[in-house]
Amino acid sequence: MGPWLLLLSSVAGGLAAATGKAKGNCKCAPTDACWPSDGLWNSLNATTKGHLIKTEPEAISCYPGPKQDAERCEVVDASWTLQSFQSSSPVGLSYPINETCPPINVTAGETPGTCTLGTNPWYAVSASSTSDVATAIKFAKNHNVRLVIKDTGHDILGRSTGYGSLEIWVRSLRTGLTFQPKYKSSCKTSAWTGAAITVGGGYTFNDVYKVAKANNVVVVGGGTPSVGALGGWMQGGGHGPASRQFGLGADQVLEAEVVTADGKVITASPCSNSDVYWAIRGGGPGTYGVVTKTVIKAYPMVNVQVQHVAIAPLSDNTSALLDAIAILWEAYPDLNDAGYAGYGTWSISQPTPLFATFTAGYVHGFYTFDKTVSYAKSTFEPTLQKLLPYNGTSLFISVDYVSYPDYWSFYNTESGVEPPVGTGSALSSRLFSRSAVQDDTAGLRSMLDVIAGTPEQYTSNNFELVSGGANFEKPDDYSALLPAWRISYFNNIVARGWAPDATQAEKDAVQRDISFTKVGAMEKQAPDTGVYMNEGDRLDPNYKQDYYGEHYDRLASIKEKVDPNGVFYCPTCVGSDEWKEDSTGRLCRV
Ligand SMILES: Cc1cc2nc3c(=O)[nH]c(=O)nc-3n(C[C@H](O)[C@H](O)[C@H](O)COP(=O)(O)OP(=O)(O)OC[C@H]3O[C@@H](n4cnc5c(N)ncnc54)[C@H](O)[C@@H]3O)c2cc1C
Ligand SMILES: *[C@@H]1O[C@H](CO)[C@@H](O)[C@H](O)[C@H]1NC(C)=O
Ligand SMILES: *[C@@H]1O[C@H](CO)[C@@H](O)[C@H](O)[C@H]1NC(C)=O
Ligand SMILES: *[C@@H]1O[C@H](CO)[C@@H](O)[C@H](O)[C@H]1NC(C)=O
Ligand SMILES: *[C@@H]1O[C@H](CO)[C@@H](O)[C@H](O)[C@H]1NC(C)=O
Ligand SMILES: *[C@@H]1O[C@H](CO)[C@@H](O)[C@H](O)[C@H]1NC(C)=O
Repeated sequence: MGPWLLLLSSVAGGLAAATGKAKGNCKCAPTDACWPSDGLWNSLNATTKGHLIKTEPEAISCYPGPKQDAERCEVVDASWTLQSFQSSSPVGLSYPINETCPPINVTAGETPGTCTLGTNPWYAVSASSTSDVATAIKFAKNHNVRLVIKDTGHDILGRSTGYGSLEIWVRSLRTGLTFQPKYKSSCKTSAWTGAAITVGGGYTFNDVYKVAKANNVVVVGGGTPSVGALGGWMQGGGHGPASRQFGLGADQVLEAEVVTADGKVITASPCSNSDVYWAIRGGGPGTYGVVTKTVIKAYPMVNVQVQHVAIAPLSDNTSALLDAIAILWEAYPDLNDAGYAGYGTWSISQPTPLFATFTAGYVHGFYTFDKTVSYAKSTFEPTLQKLLPYNGTSLFISVDYVSYPDYWSFYNTESGVEPPVGTGSALSSRLFSRSAVQDDTAGLRSMLDVIAGTPEQYTSNNFELVSGGANFEKPDDYSALLPAWRISYFNNIVARGWAPDATQAEKDAVQRDISFTKVGAMEKQAPDTGVYMNEGDRLDPNYKQDYYGEHYDRLASIKEKVDPNGVFYCPTCVGSDEWKEDSTGRLCRV
């Protein structure tokens, strides 16, 4: 950079500071004089037709005070770990980053401590139209209030929550779910002539799958149907049982309606606002605008062949189990190239059985589409031959096959499980390419030793063979998806829990073990890939490279163009490095 350019940029920097890109350096927190008055909040409520909610902790009924209510408290406690319960609350989260008002089990003799909103939003607009969304955005911008976008609250990294914020809750924004047998685009450059489904708001895949099933088509959606169809799942990537065959969620979006940082409703497609279209397709959620509608691709029905593999060690020695897992991991790229995809989990010690009575073992459910069981068997044969010497000597190995006439009968039986909400655990992940599992098999085996943890650590590994296939074809021109997805066949999530009564120091030690020791071992083995941002780690110091790869700079320039004032913020999202929370939790410019 020449000296005059340096001068220019420092002058521009000075100007920005003088005019104050946002008012002052921090967003207004509830304890600040600049926090909007009750009268202003009331007027926001009026403009949004009464859709403003003063948030309160969901378990407030368990604590002494005017809201205490034993009956309600019991219901809250019994429902706490259900995804549907958390999703139906404006402050409900699948992975609370810091639970500051836990439910109390009075029967078990628990007594209430303190109950605060903690890092949750202070107000939420339960939007029912793009006009509610635009009004909330303008309010947050004009009054310099932190803004948070939430759909289901499934986020693992805390991107749909934030201290002292106004939340735009898109869950009740539901303007229709419609099927088109032949996609009609206003945009001439769109090559898609197949079927499509319009997702008009905060629908979950539960809702979308019903429409797909009724019309005898397949859509790419989450393995868990309670995930939101146009929120973080899609904008961060989005894998599911059909994503190997048809591409990840971000690649399904034909066009989108987006409410921008200045409150305008735009269409993002290959021929209008194509930079926003590019960015929301994989460039991260909560950053470029509020997505209020998408049109996604739908595919002709497929039949499905499923393979179940279950492996357990015959003694306490889990070394052969890890040998078998190394054989399988090494085989995934070839199996995937032949059409296999699916999900699985393994552990050398789990608190609850993995299958039958085994608390150590490996299970997977893999499948092929539109093939035959004999094709699936013959494809697996070379791998089976490597595993069989262990069967009956050190391991129990079971392999079976089942087929389904259509995708939805497969999905309902083999997928679609709702796990309980995550309480007290740390997790992170890494993507694996062919070279990561085939170039250094000794290294792979040592890595498995590290990520298996010690028996006392109760570590669990969940792998997702969800890429390859369509994802490895040349992407269209509008994909901000992490490029590592185009060479990585699968993702592995490593997770550890802690005891309910763990001290902060114990929790921190578990988090460090996951973030650095276990993820470090995976990174060493897969140095050229990255991390699926939706299943990553809020504390990842390399999130820019890991989550966005070579797309980061272009995403950052789009962010600067469409949201110069930083109306939208979420941790690890593009542009978030310009902000940090101060000791009181207020969001301040760096
Ligand atoms: C039980 C469970 C199952 C899961 N299963 C899968 C799976 O099968 N496949 C997979 O890929 N991932 C899965 N995930 C991870 C999932 O992709 C992320 O949690 C994702 O962030 C959820 O998006 P959401 O919109 O539903 O959640 P939210 O927590 O509501 O939002 C997540 C992010 O999206 C932003 N956002 C939400 N709505 C909008 C909007 N309309 N416009 C702009 N930004 C928005 C939020 O600000 C936040 O940054 C699962 C997570 C859980 C908890
Ligand atoms: C907004 O208005 C509705 C309907 O009048 C009311 O029920 C609700 O309590 C109001 N919200 C706030 C935060 O005052
Ligand atoms: C509360 O405690 C009682 C008694 O220990 C137990 O039976 C019940 O299952 C607990 N409820 C929940 C929701 O955990
Ligand atoms: C959780 O929140 C409480 C109350 O706001 C705070 O005192 C505590 O430090 C927080 N813990 C963490 C790990 O952030
Ligand atoms: C477990 O088995 C492996 C070989 O299968 C052996 O090398 C190792 O020493 C055994 N470990 C223990 C603790 O016995
Ligand atoms: C492993 O051995 C058991 C017991 O002999 C047998 O029932 C099972 O079919 C074998 N597994 C495979 C994959 O052949």
